[in-house]
Amino acid sequence: MSIPSTMRALQQTSLNGPQDLRLINDAPVPRPGPGEILVRITAAGVNFVDISQARGTFAGGPQPPYLAGIEGAGEVAAVGEGVTGLELGAHVIGVGITGGAFAEYMVLPAVGAVPVPAGWADEQALGLVVNWPTALAALKPLGGLTAGQTVLIHAAAGGTGQAAVKMAKHYGATVIATASPGKHEVVRALGADHVVDSRAADLAAEVLRLTGGTGADLVLESVGGATLDASLAATKRVTGRVIVYGVVGGEAAITNWDLVYRHQIHLIGLNIGILIQAAPQIFGEVMGEMSGLLAAGVLGPGQPTTYELAEGPKVLAELEARATVGKLALRP
Ligand SMILES: NC(=O)c1ccc[n+]([C@@H]2O[C@H](COP(=O)([O-])OP(=O)(O)OC[C@H]3O[C@@H](n4cnc5c(N)ncnc54)[C@H](OP(=O)(O)O)[C@@H]3O)[C@@H](O)[C@H]2O)c1
Repeated sequence: MSIPSTMRALQQTSLNGPQDLRLINDAPVPRPGPGEILVRITAAGVNFVDISQARGTFAGGPQPPYLAGIEGAGEVAAVGEGVTGLELGAHVIGVGITGGAFAEYMVLPAVGAVPVPAGWADEQALGLVVNWPTALAALKPLGGLTAGQTVLIHAAAGGTGQAAVKMAKHYGATVIATASPGKHEVVRALGADHVVDSRAADLAAEVLRLTGGTGADLVLESVGGATLDASLAATKRVTGRVIVYGVVGGEAAITNWDLVYRHQIHLIGLNIGILIQAAPQIFGEVMGEMSGLLAAGVLGPGQPTTYELAEGPKVLAELEARATVGKLALRP
């Protein structure tokens, strides 16, 4: 495979959001260093993290100008020194948290590259290394979900939320899902037992009503802002768990006084990148469990809505504006 010296890519030029994401034609094709691989990207996953990075709210995120996109799938085009077990031409998916996936070529750490499952197109594997393990980690090792429990899943029509709903139903939970009104049918079709308007002011009251006044055993909290307080109020006293893994609706404070006098619940933070680094054994268990879910057909092959690379700024703006459903992808 001949590798060009320059490529098309989406470059973020400020921290003012997706409006300053630009298509460039002369980005240098990166070279894989020791332990790295160069992947010819055929499909890049769009994640809310791309918005956080473009707004500068992602802790330790890349500084502009940078090539955007963290999730890339494609074909191994070159391998760096010391890389074994990955053949040129193999199809893989991986994450590069400092960006570069919205491009024709991307460098990825070889150890984190996961083979695209046999028989799947590259784009059908999007979700496999970001959304699905995050949802699974929230439900199982951190959330401790068991059959018969009730789980409240926010942003249930989104890339991460849809996977969470499917898995929670597979584990025998009752699912209360939240989504904007136009997305409710999608979430119902995934098997959610109840779908609540994510923009409703009385979210907590509605969840309490649906749970006979006790609240949910587990809450997947990816929203924050005013919704965090509603989530805490909608959680079962003493035994209920709230997994906080997103802040799309803004930051929100909770005090020790709140935990003692208002919300006697378990509050747990999740960042999948840190989980991989700090608890590789738990991540290994998550990926092992996910293999079983793939084999059983609970997850995948994914069906992302795919756009041309040049449409990236518009797609990201729509994601930020809550106008999208499901997993989104860009084709370089
Ligand atoms: N911590 C981690 O390691 C990790 C890893 C992956 C993802 N995440 C988090 O998981 C969440 C979902 O990510 P995703 O990439 O799959 O995105 P997504 O769910 O496809 O899209 C975000 C959705 O969040 C909902 N939302 C609620 N309030 C919002 C607001 N104020 N602004 C924008 N959206 C709002 C919207 O759904 P409705 O309009 O239907 O309510 C929107 O469609 C994000 O919070 C992301 O940061 C965290």
